Amino acid sequence: MLQTIAWTGSAARLIDQTKLPTEVVYVDITDEKQMWDAIKRLVVRGAPAIGVAAAFGVYLGVRDFPEIDSKAFLTRVDEVCAYLATSRPTAVNLFWALDRMKAHARNMWGANPQRMPDTQVIPDIKDELLYEAKTMLAEDTAVCKAIGEHGMALIRQICGERKEYGVLTHCNAGSLCAVTYGTALAPIYYGAEQGVKFHVFADETRPLLQGARITAFELQASGIPVTVICDNMAATVMSQGKVCAVIVGTDRVAANGDVANKIGTLGVAILARHYDIPFFVAAPTSSIDPAIATGKQIPIEERDPREISHGLGRQTVADGTAIYNPAFDVTPAELVTALITEKGVLRPPYGEAIRKVLP
Ligand code: MRU
Repeated sequence: MLQTIAWTGSAARLIDQTKLPTEVVYVDITDEKQMWDAIKRLVVRGAPAIGVAAAFGVYLGVRDFPEIDSKAFLTRVDEVCAYLATSRPTAVNLFWALDRMKAHARNMWGANPQRMPDTQVIPDIKDELLYEAKTMLAEDTAVCKAIGEHGMALIRQICGERKEYGVLTHCNAGSLCAVTYGTALAPIYYGAEQGVKFHVFADETRPLLQGARITAFELQASGIPVTVICDNMAATVMSQGKVCAVIVGTDRVAANGDVANKIGTLGVAILARHYDIPFFVAAPTSSIDPAIATGKQIPIEERDPREISHGLGRQTVADGTAIYNPAFDVTPAELVTALITEKGVLRPPYGEAIRKVLP
């Protein structure tokens, strides 16, 4: 399985997802500005991957900081985090990871207050920040595997005795959205390892085609049957009884269970309800934002109109035409059959279920 992010010893190595599926190119990121750009341009994308990449970005942003004193170093950590936080607004994993890095830097001194004025310890703190980013990388894989196990048990209950489990997904929430394994595709990878036969319908996911370019690419590479459909074909596929479940990922879950995910997810959820097909959302608990009461408060990224007018290698919209390009939408909790987390499957009412799994 592909690994989206790795530490080389001196750089964060990313698969450049803008080049998929025709080229598998790796880029080595060596400073925070390159990391900001990689997140902004979707070289690295998908909520969990953005979080882990940003954690390495923090380390890269402080590793050459000339040592003055501990206060200046912590100020530098805060500045790098504030800068990386401006790369993309919707995936809460970005802010979760940055907060964790800031807290780790402070805790290191908190645990050793006598060191506070001593500039000699700054290299140790730098090593600690790298260690924390590496820890997040390792944890992400474990979390995604747990999501896979819980999700597979759920899908087995739903799809039951069918010879082949047809599942529809939107955007990419597979190994390339995380370090490896992914969230929405984790149950499929886990099930396939147990011999379950899947057939995945991957929405193409306009405008940037993460479903066609990335989901289909990684499933095919793993030998899992996949069929790409244009976004406007999901209703037909559902009406023909080809899928027994829909599974998507999410960039942010509000405290009431509303979920933000790639634009088009809301339409898929409404269709699934119409055709009485369960609509599952797979997410690490780091994607839950308890500070946001409902999905209305989730900041939705708007991207360059050219992604729509010039996205397919040629101009498809006449010059001067108005274009609206929100990158995400919000699916209300009432359309979500279950949330699959590493801590188990959450059912409505989500407010209560979410409170129980958060620290
Ligand atoms: O704009 P992207 O490609 O970063 O959007 C990604 C998605 O919408 C994924 O479905 C989401 O991050 C969930 S991945 C666990």
